Amino acid sequence: MLIRSLNPTMSARLDLALLWRCTAPVNLIALAPMRILSGIQPSGALHLGNYFGMMRPAIDLQEQGEAYYFIANYHSMTSLFDANQRRKNVLDVALDFIACGLDPERCVFFRQSDVPEHTELTWMLTTLTPMGLLERCHSYKDKVAKGLSPNHGLFAYPVLMAADILIYDSHVVPVGRDQKQHVEVTRDIAIKFNQTYGDTFVIPEPRIRESTALVAGTDGQKMSKSYGNTIEIFGPEKPLRKKIMSLVMDSRPMEEPKPDADQNIAIQLLKLVGSTEHAQECEDRLRAGGYGYGDLKKALFEAYWSYFEPMRQRREDLAKNLDHVEEVLRLGAEKARSVACAVNRRARQACGLE
Ligand code: ADP
Ligand code: TRP
Repeated sequence: MLIRSLNPTMSARLDLALLWRCTAPVNLIALAPMRILSGIQPSGALHLGNYFGMMRPAIDLQEQGEAYYFIANYHSMTSLFDANQRRKNVLDVALDFIACGLDPERCVFFRQSDVPEHTELTWMLTTLTPMGLLERCHSYKDKVAKGLSPNHGLFAYPVLMAADILIYDSHVVPVGRDQKQHVEVTRDIAIKFNQTYGDTFVIPEPRIRESTALVAGTDGQKMSKSYGNTIEIFGPEKPLRKKIMSLVMDSRPMEEPKPDADQNIAIQLLKLVGSTEHAQECEDRLRAGGYGYGDLKKALFEAYWSYFEPMRQRREDLAKNLDHVEEVLRLGAEKARSVACAVNRRARQACGLE
């Protein structure tokens, strides 16, 4: 069987943890085993920024606590308006994440909309969120500046994200640097709720891996699906080779020494996908002069292609059995929902809805 469901030990551990969490006061839950949570939007093909900024750190953390990872399809509604595309993207993200090493036996992996309590909690939080807090969010301001026509969902999105995090009593949220502010907004909202209605939520912390907090795209800016400058993790070889070969470089002649070699995009990417020695050797050659950008890009492509080779293989196998992927998401949602219902209930009681 390609993908197995949550193993019994994991299930039993989660059930016990859940039982305890349903009854324990929030200040004790804050001391419980580390709960890790993160989400990723199914808004397009995943890229090196997603992989090194969020997926890899999240996969590494799944060994260190109770991890909850989800596909943020409610969030994708703020910028993607094609229903079939959304359905397809969800499965693609699931395949990508599992192929890259997310282990559904070690963590709870689910589709956000299978746990509709996220949206009810969002409403409760919305009523305590000052407009100014959302108006200051860089991600919103950047998207508007790039010409995206904003809807209310895009503006209110950090509140949905706060609900995603708080509804699992999460302690730690692994994300890339661009999401740090949203986790800070979450903390502000949780503190305000606790002050207004009494201790209800655990206050979470962002976990950012500094070395990969901001991966540059083909144009040197932050790599992002919305900026059209991505290098995807998976996809057919030819166009990906072409993308890497067309990375933007300067016009200095080959012979000229490049004292700023460490700033070169190809070198920076090579440091992620290649061995330390190989990346250092290429950087030294560039610094010395006489090493052409074409050769450097070829070296980068080879390193990138072989880095993802085992994952590419695993993805191909998984894609032959989409029913299993659906089953993993269904089982994950069952687990997630039992936690989310308990915390949502705690919030309903705290604010007098029950
Ligand atoms: P995108 O900007 O491409 O739409 P998302 O907003 O879906 O990416 O990001 C998903 C996760 O990947 C987030 O945790 C985000 O911080 C991380 N991430 C995205 N782009 C980068 C990048 N260029 N460098 C580091 N992390 C990134
Ligand atoms: N906003 C995140 C992004 O665009 C995705 C996300 C949604 C998320 N809910 C979350 C990340 C909760 C961490 C925790 O990348």
